[in-house]
Amino acid sequence: MARMDRSFEFARRAVSRIVVGTGVEARLPDLLRELGTGPIVLVHDRTMAAAADRLAARLGDASCLAIPPGEAAKDLDQIAAATRALRHLGADRGVTLLAFGGGSVTDAVGFLASVWLRGVRFVACPTTTLAICDAALGGKNGVDLDGRKNELGTIRQPDLVVGDTDWLRTLPDALWREGFVEVVKMAAVLDAAHFAELERLAPALRARDAAAAQRAIDLAIAMKMAVVLADETEQDRRRWLNFGHTIGHALESLANGALRHGECVAIGMLAECRAAGAAVPAAVQAQLTRVLQALDAPTAWPRQFGDVGRLWALAVQDKKAHAGVVPMVVPGAIGTGILCELTRDRLAAAV
Ligand SMILES: NC(=O)c1ccc[n+]([C@@H]2O[C@H](COP(=O)([O-])OP(=O)(O)OC[C@H]3O[C@@H](n4cnc5c(N)ncnc54)[C@H](O)[C@@H]3O)[C@@H](O)[C@H]2O)c1
Repeated sequence: MARMDRSFEFARRAVSRIVVGTGVEARLPDLLRELGTGPIVLVHDRTMAAAADRLAARLGDASCLAIPPGEAAKDLDQIAAATRALRHLGADRGVTLLAFGGGSVTDAVGFLASVWLRGVRFVACPTTTLAICDAALGGKNGVDLDGRKNELGTIRQPDLVVGDTDWLRTLPDALWREGFVEVVKMAAVLDAAHFAELERLAPALRARDAAAAQRAIDLAIAMKMAVVLADETEQDRRRWLNFGHTIGHALESLANGALRHGECVAIGMLAECRAAGAAVPAAVQAQLTRVLQALDAPTAWPRQFGDVGRLWALAVQDKKAHAGVVPMVVPGAIGTGILCELTRDRLAAAV
């Protein structure tokens, strides 16, 4: 007979502050002071070294730690190397890890901050549109093992997100539009009014207009954080944000670096609409295609990646796949996500 059988309920209070705008880098020292941070280790990818050094100088005595650029930053071996570097720097539980870079850096450092000494403060300073609109928000992080994307990860909200839109100026066009593809994705399944606004903003976004970019970023933060607050651990509503990613991730893996994440999501959204058949009206597909084209994002399926067998093998690796079916969310109307199922036959019809 059990001598002890009790349940313990934990109340976890996490506060995540997000500050985004032009020139906010100058406020970073004050924002960190308000947070009560101690020593800071600024982790950046190697190609961002000059900007990271300038930022470190502004922060006074931050130590800098360079990691490889792009997805390589998220390899578990690189996380192990960064862990040894933290040990070498004498980082203790009072340290704050500050990620300065794109989504690969914020994902990798968010993970590191959640496991180093069982968790230390984490500040994200996103420098790509994708990271500022999506990756740095909501606390999901992930690292890759044996080339399998995000196989390991935690959910841990950043204590502070600071995004200076001036950091985005050096982005090449292909990287610039990526984040806005994700904002279109959010609006397509969550909010018709925001989708209509993005339709109007698309030409200005393509022309890299600063006011349009700030507005799209504000919409992204509002939409993503509303979803995350309602469903932090992705039991329900947060899955809506995976629109375009079921087929998009499979395409990204198959393309093996030949296509960028945002390109695959744009192509993936339209392929998932086709795969959903009558559940997504033709007018919705046409509207989505128009906005993506206005952003100069690709919309047609790239014929060289039409191997359905390999695509399906990649799609069923999805964490949510069950019994040969992959659940996916598509817009039943603009602004309204509906759940449907991807099967091999539906995939074959869509690519
Ligand atoms: N956690 C999440 O919720 C979430 C959401 C979406 C994407 N992600 C992840 O984000 C990662 C992709 O992130 P990303 O697209 O931001 O790219 P990235 O971090 O891989 O960076 C891409 C390239 O851009 C360069 N770069 C970064 N900032 C720059 C700047 N201001 N000017 C010039 N070059 C700059 C980098 O050096 C790198 O070479 C993927 O691993 C993806 O899985 C995570």
